[in-house]
Amino acid sequence: MAIETRKRILTGIRPTGSLHLGHYAGALKQWITLQEEYECFFLIADYQVSDYVDDIDHVRRSVWEVALDWLSVGLDPQRGHYVIESQVPQHAELTALLSWYLPMGPLRKNPTLKSEMDILEQTKKSVPVGFFIYPLMQIANILLPRADLVPVGDDQLPHIELTRDVAERFNRETGVEVFPLPKPRLDTVTRLVGLDGAAKMGKSAGNAIDLKDDAETVRKKVMSMFTDPNHLRKEDPGKVEGNPVFIYHDAFNPDVDDVANMKEHYQRGGLGDVDVKKKLVVAINNLLDPIRERRAHYEARPKEVQEALEAGCAVARTVAEETMVDVRAALKLDYFVRGRP
Ligand code: TRP
Repeated sequence: MAIETRKRILTGIRPTGSLHLGHYAGALKQWITLQEEYECFFLIADYQVSDYVDDIDHVRRSVWEVALDWLSVGLDPQRGHYVIESQVPQHAELTALLSWYLPMGPLRKNPTLKSEMDILEQTKKSVPVGFFIYPLMQIANILLPRADLVPVGDDQLPHIELTRDVAERFNRETGVEVFPLPKPRLDTVTRLVGLDGAAKMGKSAGNAIDLKDDAETVRKKVMSMFTDPNHLRKEDPGKVEGNPVFIYHDAFNPDVDDVANMKEHYQRGGLGDVDVKKKLVVAINNLLDPIRERRAHYEARPKEVQEALEAGCAVARTVAEETMVDVRAALKLDYFVRGRP
């Protein structure tokens, strides 16, 4: 077997449903490029589901959906590793041990966690500790394979900062350089608005195009998209900025010249929404066609999906145990190596 020399990436996603174009534009597209250069650990974070404990079956189904979506978009399980968090129990062990090195103050002040907690507290009677410590679990996710880079959206940046702090503190206080300090990788990605123009595309918001939508579903969804509300007649000049249909053209239509022409025409007046949408239907379906083809392949071969997951988890467990041997030694918890003190 070839010795692995690529730098490591870890990135993750919560298994809460199948993936949509927002995931594709905001993350998957970059991951596909990154897998060429880096050894990637693609994590399905099924510990981070404290908001779904009353529907674990949904989580279980979603784990498979996510794996299927990943295979469909072309994340190669031969190059990278598909990992289910719960199938690598070292995640739990490291979470417990790293909790010693994460003070309450910085966790409480983490702005991403704070705003998510505020929302939860308004909608639920109580917030589980498991939710409060999800950034800690995420720190363990990143440090377990000793990742060098973490590609994330800017909302996740506070978590990476905490990860660096915890790694640094662990190394300093034990006197052993167990963890490299991971760096965030912020690519300029498209934050895709919803079909309704809402800031975010989301399954629960019902404003998403799923990667597994068929051509007719895509057509219907695109034809019902929000555009410029003041563009009432075809002859009127229309607005392009902030217009979801043009945001999507920028994201998914490879014919940049035609997109530029359409924008100019739309702003001048005389170009109808229906025509712009019809072209968008074609662009999105062209993007999704090869994804659908691969999906059909794997839908018919569930064993290959399972193999991808099992193989990835096996690699992750090996790598995790290497790290944990060093962690336990640094903390002098390797009782039977050291013997009675
Ligand atoms: N919390 C991340 C999200 O909701 C998902 C995630 C879990 C993650 N573990 C991770 C992201 C580790 C980066 C690294 O998007």
